[in-house]
Order: sequence, then structure tokens, then C-alpha cells
Amino acid sequence: MRMIKHGRHHPYVLKMRDAPGYSNITSDEKALNYELHLCACGLSRNKPYCDGSHAKTKTEDAAKLYVYDLEGNGSEIEETEQLADAPNEYTE
Ligand code: FES
Repeated sequence: MRMIKHGRHHPYVLKMRDAPGYSNITSDEKALNYELHLCACGLSRNKPYCDGSHAKTKTEDAAKLYVYDLEGNGSEIEETEQLADAPNEYTE
């Protein structure tokens, strides 16, 4: 089992128009405007894609630590010294 701290509350957005070489592959305006939303909160049930579950993190207090179960139910936990020293992953 592994615990990873996530501090980001929204997905990474990959705009195909900005992908290296993509504009050489297609000139289709719809394809060029296509965006991939990649989960950065850790809660998506459809990783690597965002499924909107990050909405559950919007009310979190940045100074507190939360855990989520497999159903996406979150609860605040007491942060131990060991957890406090762990760097946040994916924090802006
Ligand atoms: S960023 Fe949207 S579900 Fe994780």
C-alpha cells in the first residue's frame, strides 16, 4: 500500500494544439482544439483522465490533511510529523 499527497484541486489540461508536432499531423480545427484533462487530484476513477471528482477537494483547508476511501468519501486526519515532512505531489 502506498500513500501519496496531492495538493492540486483541478486537472492538468493538455491542449492538442500545443502538443509538439501535433499541428503537423492535422489541420482539422476540431482536432486542434481538442483538450485532454488529466487527473492531478488523485481521486479520479478513470485515471489518467479527470472525471470531475476533484470537486470534492474544493472545500478542503490547505493547512489540514485528508484521506479518501475507494468510494471517494473524504475525512480529515491528524497529520503526523512523518506525513508533514513528505512533499506534496502535484502542487502548483
Ligand atoms: S483532477 Fe479531476 S478528478 Fe482528479
